[in-house]
Amino acid sequence: MEDRSWGAVIVAAGSGVRFGAGIPKQFLRLGDKAVVDWSLGAFMSIGGISEIVVVVPGEADWRRWWNPPDGVVTVPGGTRRQDSVMSGLRALVGSEFVLVHDAARPLVRRELIERVMLEALRSGAAVPVVPVRDTVKRLDPGSFLSPTVPREDLRFSQTPQAFRLDELREVLGSSGEVTDECSAMEFAGRQVAAVPGDPLNMKITDPVDLGLVRCIAGEGYRETRTGTGLDFHPFEDGRPLVLAGCRLRSDRGLAGHSDGDAVLHAASDAILAAARLGDIGVHFPPGDPEWKDADSSLMLGRCVTMAREAGWTVSQLDLTIIAVTPRIAPIRDLALARLSEITGLPVERIWIKGTTTNSLGDIGRGLGVGCMALAVLERTHRNIPAAGNNL
Ligand code: CTP
Ligand code: MG
Repeated sequence: MEDRSWGAVIVAAGSGVRFGAGIPKQFLRLGDKAVVDWSLGAFMSIGGISEIVVVVPGEADWRRWWNPPDGVVTVPGGTRRQDSVMSGLRALVGSEFVLVHDAARPLVRRELIERVMLEALRSGAAVPVVPVRDTVKRLDPGSFLSPTVPREDLRFSQTPQAFRLDELREVLGSSGEVTDECSAMEFAGRQVAAVPGDPLNMKITDPVDLGLVRCIAGEGYRETRTGTGLDFHPFEDGRPLVLAGCRLRSDRGLAGHSDGDAVLHAASDAILAAARLGDIGVHFPPGDPEWKDADSSLMLGRCVTMAREAGWTVSQLDLTIIAVTPRIAPIRDLALARLSEITGLPVERIWIKGTTTNSLGDIGRGLGVGCMALAVLERTHRNIPAAGNNL
């Protein structure tokens, strides 16, 4: 940030006694990575932070639980949190300012980190706080309630907390027992500026907290869309027969500007429809020299890519071929394998079957092939953007 040099210390050396799992809470899984990886990702995404140290358990063989990303420095922590912080501060070599953050707060967002950094540049020390919303009571020794504590000027403190590195080293080195760096500053009579915290930046203390964090960050909600596609091609003598991306033995093939593969065209249209991306006529215009006699698997592959670029994953395809010949059952396994190869979908998420028109119409007289396709697409919305994303 600006031209000042910033370091960050992420403390992950606690044993998580209150959580009570077999492994420290900061190394449990949250989504597709460990809890500590979430905040690490947020700090790594800020260009102004040039050195990051993760403080890991001094005693335990933590590598059983966590693989640090390349380039991240790890140092062993101490018995108390403040000992771990000191150990991390000692490992910083070129920073003027430092951010100290609990690995147990995985939902920290970039915008909060930057707010704390800005205030620390202005005031020398900054800590994010959130208002106390509930009515606060004090319990007397007999489990009776004393008069309500006024809460207007009470705040919960969070991390990251930001300080001048020299000052924090000095203050923490001579401090008594404290639960955060801000307290050490207060004991030394130094001023610390308050910055609006983030209610979502909660600390995982027990399994209920992890459940809440998982609801906020881990799952999100899944949106599903379906689309259909329909295509027909007449037979033409002397052309190769290509259906569902498979070249089949036949003395006639399907007429068309491309290879005439009605199955792949219907599937392509179904995917484009589900993703609301137009149709194959728009993307692959008939008459376009690029698609003259083209392999339609390239067309379907491109539709899958376009859908992916719009945030959608193709999750299922169901294809019904309407034809007298070829018969579908004997070529089903071959067709499924080929469709899987083209779309990247596992075979069990695709189905293909044949039917006839019971002799009705030109298709019933064996003059061509039709295909109807249904595509199911999915995308996941995160309840909050993942840590480190464009905030
Ligand atoms: N921490 C640390 N070194 C310690 C104690 C705590 O690095 N000796 C870290 C924790 O890993 C956590 C943060 O400080 O990221 C906040 O501490 P806390 O929530 O109290 O975690 P634990 O001490 O692990 O949990 P508990 O107090 O329940 O044992
Ligand atoms: Mg603790």
